[in-house]
Amino acid sequence: MAQIGIRGVRKSYGKTQVVHGVDVDIVDGEFVVILGPSGCGKSTLLRMIAGLEEITAGEISIDGEVVNELEPRERGCAMVFQNYALYPHMTVAQNIGYSLKVAGVPRATRDQRVLETARTIGLVDFLDRKPGQLSGGQRQRVAMGRAMIREPRVFLFDEPLSNLDAKLRVQMRLEIRRLHQRLRATSVFVTHDQVEAMTLADRLIVMNEGHIDQIGTPSEVYGLPASRYVGGFIGSPPMNFLDVTVGGDGGHVVVGDGQHLSIDPAIGAGLVGQTVEVGIRPEHVTVGHRAGGSTLTAAFDFMEDLGAGRLFHGRLGGADFIVHSPEHRPPAFGEEIPLHIPRDAVHLFDPQTGKRVAAQPVVQAAAA
Ligand SMILES: Nc1ncnc2c1ncn2[C@@H]1O[C@H](COP(=O)(O)OP(=O)(O)OP(=O)(O)O)[C@@H](O)[C@H]1O
Ligand SMILES: [Mg+2]
Repeated sequence: MAQIGIRGVRKSYGKTQVVHGVDVDIVDGEFVVILGPSGCGKSTLLRMIAGLEEITAGEISIDGEVVNELEPRERGCAMVFQNYALYPHMTVAQNIGYSLKVAGVPRATRDQRVLETARTIGLVDFLDRKPGQLSGGQRQRVAMGRAMIREPRVFLFDEPLSNLDAKLRVQMRLEIRRLHQRLRATSVFVTHDQVEAMTLADRLIVMNEGHIDQIGTPSEVYGLPASRYVGGFIGSPPMNFLDVTVGGDGGHVVVGDGQHLSIDPAIGAGLVGQTVEVGIRPEHVTVGHRAGGSTLTAAFDFMEDLGAGRLFHGRLGGADFIVHSPEHRPPAFGEEIPLHIPRDAVHLFDPQTGKRVAAQPVVQAAAA
């Protein structure tokens, strides 16, 4: 049981700052996923929580106690890495029980705890095997067991599934989620895989070049991305982006080829004549005409069949545009197809800052 407070945390290596002031509160029992591309500072942040990396500025606390100066072993965190580094000459049981042995826990207690742990991770029948006689997923479970047996306050995972093949990744992801449902231990999980992040997280922390761009539940982050970066990073295929100008009374934007796309006038009213960037998810567009929203025409070149759906690749207003639709007829090359885009599927971003443009409070005319 543990909560983690991260306040103004920065990290520099020499003169180069790689984490630029991170603030987040992780609540007891929560499963938080840190998501971002390679080099954005995910591991650095995790390692600062674990105590494996010194904190340049700011404060990290666990259960209200500032841990900046505590040694890793005094923090009660267990870390599971991508390279789980099991002892090859020891059996599964010895690997799992190793930390208890080092701590001088008596043999009988140790055996009992190893058995309980093996039961939790489904490895009771493998206790006498050596790591070399296990599959990748089983080895990963031994690494989890080794972390669990210490009954840590906090689990820290650094891309623990990236060495596994695609099918096993999905399976282990479910096992980790199931284990968390059961144990409810506070967990921080680092990944650059957005599907892994979306499926595991109670809350997501989306990092971008050493900053946090957004913190929220998977549906908040998907539904209301705080920046163009988050919009483009979460979702597959990625969000479509178009440079547009806000027209008329702010109720629509004009795309490159002059077509009008309806937007929320509460947002557009303050932006008339300005250039903004709109983001539209491929799965929120439908083929054909419908009432409400807007119907625009785009030229399509080819279709990819995914089995469960189809991706139509084309161009709209001079930009590449993808539509995810169940419609199954492949387009003729360059075929013009009408598309329906609901108003609430249109996200607006500031082209300078990349931040989401939020609805401005409507200024009421003063009563006469
Ligand atoms: N010991 C170090 N000395 C100097 N720079 C470092 C050191 N460790 C990491 N960095 C730099 O800090 C930045 C963040 O690294 P970090 O390992 O946290 O990224 P990451 O998000 O975990 O990436 P990945 O997904 O590739 O693991 C990178 O630019 C990296 O080059
Ligand atoms: Mg890393």
